[in-house]
This record gives sequence, structure tokens and C-alpha cells, in this order.
Amino acid sequence: MTTIHLDSAEATARVGARLAAAVEGGDAIALIGDLGAGKTTLVAGLVAALGGGAAASPTFSLVNEYRHGRLRVWHVDLYRLEREAELPELGLDDLIGDLRGIVLVEWADKFDVMPADHLRIELAHEGDERLLTATGTGPRGTALASVLGSAA
Ligand SMILES: Nc1ncnc2c1ncn2[C@@H]1O[C@H](COP(=O)(O)OP(=O)(O)O)[C@@H](O)[C@H]1O
Ligand SMILES: [Mg+2]
Repeated sequence: MTTIHLDSAEATARVGARLAAAVEGGDAIALIGDLGAGKTTLVAGLVAALGGGAAASPTFSLVNEYRHGRLRVWHVDLYRLEREAELPELGLDDLIGDLRGIVLVEWADKFDVMPADHLRIELAHEGDERLLTATGTGPRGTALASVLGSAA
């Protein structure tokens, strides 16, 4: 488990940029944390570093795709999803494991959607700042967690 103190939105975005340098097609990242914890900020930093342009919050569209960078990014937000029965409509099963890109899921703890091998990032408010906790399960999740664990 890796813990990182993030003292600004830029610091949160930089975590995304560090992940961008390490991700491979098929990777999956869960983003857990309250509203305003910095989940979308991290995704935006990752997408920008991949060369994919700005990432907006997909809260209304549920899935945003960025396909101009080295890898495609499928950015999923389950916040507005009320019923598990609506999950198949998102097509998440097809996106997860698609080697052309990576999948990032905000509110991934709401439903059982993540593959066995993934990186779990939790963001929590710490005063005005944020605390990030990263845990990897499986080979790729563990590799990505150790990237965050090594010195910035
Ligand atoms: N480490 C940080 N310290 C202070 N503010 C931050 C930090 N990371 C992100 N923010 C700010 O928190 C706000 C909410 O971020 P956002 O990424 O939209 O959260 P979420 O997607 O988790 O709801 C934004 O205004 C962002 O600039
Ligand atoms: Mg968000």
C-alpha cells in the first residue's frame, strides 16, 4: 500500500501523469472517494499526459472516451448509476481488458465492476488537501502501485 499526500490540484494531476507513463493497454484503475476528492482531476492529468486532451467529468454521460493519445482512455463514472441492472448498457465488460486502451472507473466501489487485476486509488479530504492511498491487486495493479510508491 502506498500513501501520498497531495497538497494541490496540480499534485493530484501529476499522479495521473506518472501513471500515464506506466500504463499498458488492458489496465484498469478504480478511483474511490467522496465528491470533490480529486478523482476527475487525476484522470485529467493522466489523459493530458497521454496526449489525449482535456478530460471532463463524465458524471452525466457515464463513459467518456479519449482516443488521441498513446492509448485510448475510457473514463467511467458510476455516480449517477442507480441500479446494477443499468450496468450492461455502459458496455463496461467490453472495455475492460480491451488492449487498445485503459479503463478508469470513478465510484468503482458502488458496484462489482473491476477485474481481478487492477489498481485501486482512494482519495480522501485532508483539510484543504488530499490523501491518496494506492493498492494493487494482480500483476498489473501491483506494478502500477509500485510506480506510485517510488520517489516522484
Ligand atoms: N490535492 C488537492 N488539494 C486541493 N484541491 C484539490 C486537490 N486535488 C483536487 N483538488 C480540487 O478538488 C476539486 C474537486 O476535484 P474533482 O477532481 O472534480 O473531484 P471528484 O472527481 O473526486 O469529484 C477541484 O476543484 C480540484 O481542483
Ligand atoms: Mg469526478
